[in-house]
Amino acid sequence: MLSNLTAQPQDKILALMAAYRADPRETKIDLGVGVYKDATGATPVMRAIKSAEELLWKTQETKAYVGLAGDPAFSAAMIDLVLGGTVDADRLSAVATPGGTGAVRQALELVKIAAPRATVWLSNPTWPNHPSIVKYLGMPLAEYRYFDSQTGDVDFDAMLADIKAIPAGDIVLLHGCCHNPTGANLSAEQEDQIIAALAANGAIPFVDIAYQGFGDGLEDDARFTRKIASQLPECLIAASCSKNFGIYRERTGILMAISPSASLQAVTQGNMAFLNRQNFSFPPDHGARLVTMILGDTGLRSTWSSELEDTRLSMLNLRQQLADELRQRTNSDRFDFIAKHRGMFSRLGVSPEVVETIRADNGVYMVVDSRINIAGLNAHTVPILAQALATALK
Ligand code: LMR
Repeated sequence: MLSNLTAQPQDKILALMAAYRADPRETKIDLGVGVYKDATGATPVMRAIKSAEELLWKTQETKAYVGLAGDPAFSAAMIDLVLGGTVDADRLSAVATPGGTGAVRQALELVKIAAPRATVWLSNPTWPNHPSIVKYLGMPLAEYRYFDSQTGDVDFDAMLADIKAIPAGDIVLLHGCCHNPTGANLSAEQEDQIIAALAANGAIPFVDIAYQGFGDGLEDDARFTRKIASQLPECLIAASCSKNFGIYRERTGILMAISPSASLQAVTQGNMAFLNRQNFSFPPDHGARLVTMILGDTGLRSTWSSELEDTRLSMLNLRQQLADELRQRTNSDRFDFIAKHRGMFSRLGVSPEVVETIRADNGVYMVVDSRINIAGLNAHTVPILAQALATALK
């Protein structure tokens, strides 16, 4: 049986991680996978997480199963963090999932049950695992235009035109904030126009929010998601705690569904719990419990949010430095958009050949579409990248 298997296509991001590890050069720079790094290149466990873990170790008396949806206290804390009280609880269903990816997968499976013929619309470009999962599930897939690689900005007219043409009942996957891979995001007014288009055509939004707190702050980053959730009759939301709590390997995420009416809540919740049971039974608890403890304790919450804010500001600083260095070294404003982008990533808009030259000559690793992880830089490596780019573009 196993002899029937053929190799799966490589995941671009994970292949890059492996290539970076295999490179013996001490000066190599990793701008690949989306993991936050401090100025020393470390990905430390956040202080609030350490404190919560210590407290948990002292007080937890059982590791017995919790429930198929996870701990209701985790759902309540995350609903508050993401939605901030904008939606009535009686229309909200939620299940804990193994990371944000688990939430994306469960959301798509829910769509498969509820609307098997619905097409899933993804931004072009999007996180490569989005189309990969949609295709794996055998669901119809289509793309809406999103990015203008000439300006480094959202190609808003094209995006709006494509969204307006999506048929009622199809699913539109939107990034809640900090678009991955481009770093280009909608303005508040543009968000309103997208929401109006969805209200008019009856397509159903599915928000993936994996970087809340990495862009303009915890509240601002939730703005688009909250408007969608409160203004449209139904939506799905996949949220990740991997990045903003720095608990990547704990696999902590949540799927929320907002039903058009309270009478549909119980059956929606039941279907989501059923899907958890089919795919992995009980969701992981450790990371979810830490998140619940932090969000529910004033002291831990303020330690966490101030560390997250430091993280955000350090990335903004690096963005500005890189934009300034590139302006100087390329003698142009071509890369000014880097300072305007938000979140962990920016797509530089250079060719795969330039990406490869920089890797070969300078040991700088970025995704082949020229996505860089801003947090992979520091004050010392920003000028190295800027010079490498300027040289390769000559
Ligand atoms: C990324 O885009 O680099 C992250 O979301 C990590 C991943 O799983 O790909």
